[in-house]
Amino acid sequence: MRQHTFPLEKSRRRWVWTAGVGVVLLLAGQGLAWRWKLEAPRPPMGLPKIPWPEHNPFSREKAHLGRLLFFDKRLSSDGTIACAGCHDPARAFSDRVAVSEGIHKRKGRRNASTLVNRAYSEEQFWDARSPSLDEQAIAPIANPDEMTTAATAEEAHRTCVERLAAVPGYRTLFRRAFGDDNVTAERVGKALATFERTLLSGNSPYDRYQAGNMAALSPAQVRGKELFFGRANCFACHSGPNFTDEIPANTGVGQARPQADRGRVEITHQEWETGFFKPPSLREVALTGPYMHDGSVKTLNDAVEHYNKGGGKNPYLDERLSKLHLTAAEKQDLVEFLRALSGEGWQHAQAPAPETMP
Ligand code: HEC
Ligand code: HEC
Repeated sequence: MRQHTFPLEKSRRRWVWTAGVGVVLLLAGQGLAWRWKLEAPRPPMGLPKIPWPEHNPFSREKAHLGRLLFFDKRLSSDGTIACAGCHDPARAFSDRVAVSEGIHKRKGRRNASTLVNRAYSEEQFWDARSPSLDEQAIAPIANPDEMTTAATAEEAHRTCVERLAAVPGYRTLFRRAFGDDNVTAERVGKALATFERTLLSGNSPYDRYQAGNMAALSPAQVRGKELFFGRANCFACHSGPNFTDEIPANTGVGQARPQADRGRVEITHQEWETGFFKPPSLREVALTGPYMHDGSVKTLNDAVEHYNKGGGKNPYLDERLSKLHLTAAEKQDLVEFLRALSGEGWQHAQAPAPETMP
């Protein structure tokens, strides 16, 4: 006798099927979401893979938390200044003034660096004194010229961490980023560094030209590029995809002044490193003036003029610098080339809307 398939059984089978497919889709979706959370943004053209450190790998939760912290004035001891106060997103995370004003209008002695492409270097600061971005990230919180009035670094970090831990929204965000809601200075540093490692600059006219788009650079920029990599010898120090070899050198900026900032020698106490500073990346340089560690050079034309003169005379001047004898047109070409290093990969990182702050 022929077996009847009752409608009820059929619908049950269909139900089992649908549920099965549903579960598979759900798991696949979860897997994708998991990957999405852990998958770091891809660097724009012209930049290598980001070397995410093993002790602080990328996660979206950490980057999100880091962004909120970066724009939060509550990190400073009187709630008046955030990291973004001196690292302005509109200027590729640098400051428009020679020397930034910190808490209580105190002035430091150095120009605020751009924060793009910090992911590619370990040494931070003009004198390369900080060996890691994660460590660097919490230094400003304890710097009396920047964000604190506390007497010691421990006290500065402790009060900052206590203030953040008192905000329920932050505790939730720390739990999402680190597994539990313990707010520590180390975690603040890790989150800030993760955010900073997402501030990239690539896909500039220069990168597009290098990739074969001959129309990406103007004729003046092409001539400037030849000077940069050729006779003007800029590439001797501003080398690699980030236009810096990160090796401190003396170009004589401000060194003629008696009270000069002597840079690296203050850290290493090696006399030969007097007046040594880290060559900054030249990516986004059109946006990051004024220039040099003391902000003493106002425009790109002035920067090129500094090199045309062979740098600033002093006993420790780098031997790779000498008078360049550039014509006015050649100087302009070099400046035009420097402008071709403005790209993208950082513009997404704008201040969060106030109502989205924890
Ligand atoms: C009061 C202004 C000010 C504030 C606030 C400030 N910075 Fe800075 N930042 C500077 C200055 C000035 C320098 C250069 C100092 C030096 O090299 O000695 C700098 C350097 C840096 C560098 C090194 C970049 C490089 O190329 O070496 C990083 C990274 C950085 N700051 C991140 C931060 C973070 C994160 C915060 C918030 C926790 C912050 N800054 C808050 C002024 C500030
Ligand atoms: C001997 C190594 C060396 C050479 C060669 C060199 N630079 Fe530099 N550059 C540096 C250092 C070091 C600094 C930071 C100096 C300071 O602040 O005291 C710097 C700073 C700069 C800055 C300022 C960037 C900023 O954000 O403040 C510009 C622009 C610049 N260099 C362009 C050039 C150009 C153009 C050439 C070629 C004509 C060149 N450099 C050649 C080492 C070098």
